[in-house]
Amino acid sequence: MLVAVGACYLDTILTTPYYPGEDEKLRATNVTRRRGGNCPNTLEVLQQLTFHESTERGLPLTLITILPAKSSMATQKIRSSFGSRVNLDHCIYREGLEEPASCYIIKSQSTGSRTIVNYNNLLEITLEEFTGAAEKLGSEATWFHFEGRTPEMTLQFILYLRKQFPAIQVSVEIEKPGRPGLQELAEEADVVFYSKTWAQDLGYHTAEECLREQSKRIHNASLLCCTWGQDGASALQPRTGDFEHVAAYTTENFKVVDPIGAGDTFIAGMLYALNCKEKDWDLSKKLAFANRIAGLKVSQEGFASLD
Ligand code: FRU
Repeated sequence: MLVAVGACYLDTILTTPYYPGEDEKLRATNVTRRRGGNCPNTLEVLQQLTFHESTERGLPLTLITILPAKSSMATQKIRSSFGSRVNLDHCIYREGLEEPASCYIIKSQSTGSRTIVNYNNLLEITLEEFTGAAEKLGSEATWFHFEGRTPEMTLQFILYLRKQFPAIQVSVEIEKPGRPGLQELAEEADVVFYSKTWAQDLGYHTAEECLREQSKRIHNASLLCCTWGQDGASALQPRTGDFEHVAAYTTENFKVVDPIGAGDTFIAGMLYALNCKEKDWDLSKKLAFANRIAGLKVSQEGFASLD
C-alpha cells in the first residue's frame, strides 16, 4: 500500500488572457473549480495508472490529509472527488470548521504561468495524529510519500516510520523555495522529488546540477529526481551514479492547456514506475514514463484519462 500525506485544497482556476497588474480589473475567459492539492492530485493519477495492475501486484492507495468538519459541504465534495480506489479512512477532520483550504489560481494564456494564492486555516497534522494513523495502517503500508509541507514535523514522521516500520520506503517532495527544513527532509528520504523553483532558489542552473550537488548531501536516497519545466526532467541514482535526462514531452501540435499539477503528475508516474515496474523498467524508462504523463497532463484540462 502506498500512503500519501499532504494538504487537500479546493482550487478555483481563472483563465485570463494575460496576468493582471495590481489594481487592474480584468475579465476571466473561464473558471474551473476542482479539488486540488499535491498529494490528492498525485493519487488521482496513480489510481488510474494502477487500475490495470492485477490484484496480486496492484497498489492500494491511501490519503492522509486534514479536512474540515466531516459533515461540511466541502468535505463531502472533496471525498466524492476521489474514485473508490483511494482509501480516505485515515483522513483527519477539524470539527467546527466548514471552510476548506482553498487555492485561487490565475492561469495566464499569454505566458502559460499559473499564479497561486492560497488560504488554509486547518491546523496541520500533529505527530500524535500521524502516528495514530500509521499504527492503524501498520505493516500494510510499503511506501509513504510526503508533500513536505511542515518540514520539521514531517521529519519526525519519517523518523517514527524508520523506527517502527524500517522496511517502509519514504519519498518526499521538495517544492517550496525558502521553506526552512526541506534540505534536512531530502537528506532523510529514500526518493526525493525536487522542484525547479526550489533548485533555482538554491542557485542551481539545471536539474543535473541540482541532482549532482544534492547527491553529495543525502544519506539514504536511492533516487533523486528534478523536473525543469520546458527543459524536461532528470534522475540520478546516487548509489550507482546512473544519471538520465529527458527532454520535455511534446507532440506536433502541443499546446499548454493546464499546467496546474504537472509536477504532481510526474511524481505519480515515478511512484507508479517504482512501485509497479521496479523490476521491468530501467531508470531511463521510468523517467520517460513520468515525463510523458506530466506532458500529457499539461496539454489537457484536469487529470482524467492519463493511463
Ligand atoms: C498543484 C496544486 C493545486 C493546489 C496547489 C497547492 O500542484 O496542488 O491543486 O491548489 O498546488 O499548493
